[in-house]
Amino acid sequence: MRTDIDRLREEALAAVACAGDIEALDQFQVLYLGRKGRVTTILRGLAGVPAAERPALGAIANQARAEIEAALARRRQELAAEVERRRQAAEAIDVTLPGVPWRVGRRHVLNVVRKEIEEFFLHLGFSIAEGPEVELDHYNFELLNIPRGHPARESQDTFYLTDELLLRTHTSPTQVRVMQAMAPKLPVRVISPGRVYRRDSVDASHLPFFHQVEVLAVDRGVTFADLKGTLEHFARSFFGQGTRVRLRPSYFPFTEPSGEVDVSCMCEGRGCSACGGKGWIELLGAGMVHPRVLEAGGYDPEEVAGYALGLGVERAAMLVHGIDDIRLFGQNDIRFLEQLGEEGC
Ligand code: PHE
Repeated sequence: MRTDIDRLREEALAAVACAGDIEALDQFQVLYLGRKGRVTTILRGLAGVPAAERPALGAIANQARAEIEAALARRRQELAAEVERRRQAAEAIDVTLPGVPWRVGRRHVLNVVRKEIEEFFLHLGFSIAEGPEVELDHYNFELLNIPRGHPARESQDTFYLTDELLLRTHTSPTQVRVMQAMAPKLPVRVISPGRVYRRDSVDASHLPFFHQVEVLAVDRGVTFADLKGTLEHFARSFFGQGTRVRLRPSYFPFTEPSGEVDVSCMCEGRGCSACGGKGWIELLGAGMVHPRVLEAGGYDPEEVAGYALGLGVERAAMLVHGIDDIRLFGQNDIRFLEQLGEEGC
């Protein structure tokens, strides 16, 4: 019996020493010292031992129980301390570590330029209206006097979602949308910035998507002189006081007459790569709103007139910053973005 007790004690002490958590300890407590535990059972069994051996065996058994109890208590403390230590380690903040610097982003140069254009026209009393990028053929072409089969559609091929639904090729459809929303109120003075799409092969001056700002002014008595004055004022404030503006006759189905607008190059015609030595740089398309477009917008062309222009944001940004490759705008090259972007969001 003595060896039984010794073996049990060794086994129990070893088990307790290896217990990995409090739950395991609780189980061992029940297993050895519980009411039906193995040590308890031995102590009870002492009743059947001859009286002469009982005191000695009793002492050994009690001793074993005390040792197991002590070991349990000790291991319990160790485990509790370990849990606490882990908790503290997990919560610890090393205030001496260097902080993680925020990488602050910048406004994209296209947004900066777009905003400058917007601000110029806001100062002139225009307001901003946005149109959908996924547009109906009806607004993108039909109501702008470009029926199906019209050759002007060729230079503005685009991505069609259905026969009727396409990615808009210019911001001009917002002309009609804005007029329809405002008619018969006057004056209409609205600009509409946004992204446009065309089926173009990518090269240094073409991307299949780019940005425009549409400008529309409709009122009684608006003339070509208003358009010209606005263009000159814009060109000077945007590209510098000395900038000159040149209007070349052109054709857009939704303006009549139409013109293409060039601004004088910084080289003054001495020849540089920006203007190819011509001294002029093409900036935008413009004209007097076509009577059919005014009608589509809900205005009487006998009563009111308007001018419209469509400005390429990439082109303006390239001119202002001397950028020679339009692809740079979309490449996410951090060196380019940091050079030309503006702080803030
Ligand atoms: N929508 C034309 C284009 O994208 C530009 C334009 C706008 C021309 C307004 C005249 C008037 O080419």
